[in-house]
Amino acid sequence: MPNKDLSARLSEARDAIFKRIDIQPEVGLVLGSGLGAFADSLSNATSFSFDEIPNMPRPSVSGHAGRLVVGTVSDVPVAVLQGRVHLYEGHSPDAAVFGVRLLAKLGVFAVLLSNAAGGIRTSFKPGTLMLIRDHINLSGINPLVGANDDELGPRFPDMTRAYDPRLRSLARDAAADIGFNLEEGVYTAMLGPSYETPAEIRMLRTLGADAVGMSTVPEVIALQHMGVRTAAVSCITNMAAGMTGEVLHHSEVEQTAESVRETFVKLFHAWIERIGAADWASTTGRFRAKK
Ligand code: HPA
Repeated sequence: MPNKDLSARLSEARDAIFKRIDIQPEVGLVLGSGLGAFADSLSNATSFSFDEIPNMPRPSVSGHAGRLVVGTVSDVPVAVLQGRVHLYEGHSPDAAVFGVRLLAKLGVFAVLLSNAAGGIRTSFKPGTLMLIRDHINLSGINPLVGANDDELGPRFPDMTRAYDPRLRSLARDAAADIGFNLEEGVYTAMLGPSYETPAEIRMLRTLGADAVGMSTVPEVIALQHMGVRTAAVSCITNMAAGMTGEVLHHSEVEQTAESVRETFVKLFHAWIERIGAADWASTTGRFRAKK
């Protein structure tokens, strides 16, 4: 079964990283398509190419560099995955979530994810940022299928608060700090790599979806399994198929993500600062790592 030696593979990767850093990361980040610039804004950065991390799967999509950067943001120690592995690349579900499991193994108590997504809610525009309130998993895949690794988490993890209410509230406060309108909605995961058809988008809207993409959901499930608080922001890079007269291109996804780069970096900085200042010890769930 796939999970047999997972804990050992994660420990090997973690040990290789801890050999080269002397800070304890508290918050993890995953940067989606075209949003990787955030990693360049860290202080005291130590960077690892995915090639240097034992057992780490490598992404192949343009816009995904494949680096882990450890450093600080407003004095909060963070570990950032710049680039991710998608299911549509043909990787196993286990491989697709190895990176976030590694963040958990490094000891972070929260992970903030980002992605590029198609907008389904008609009031959205390319460049809208949407805090994910909940998801619909239509990828057909769940990374926890197979023997459960009891060392990592329970067989049947709860998903009621997968998108942590406290982290979301801090994101809204951070957006207010910088005077930015942060939308909130439901993200649907599709397997990809083809974009959706207009009929599929009409179906998704009927189901209550506000945005659609090809990532994030497997990672959130794996993190929830491991008891790590998660939150995520979608960058609406294009309106979903059939909503405008246009066809969809990956280059449009990258261009829109690039155009919101500054706002995105500012929002995440303000968010992490607020997470660092909050008192987590009195709440349930995984606490902040002790210094
Ligand atoms: N559909 C699915 N994934 C996406 C889209 C989309 O329209 N845009 C960016 N990622």
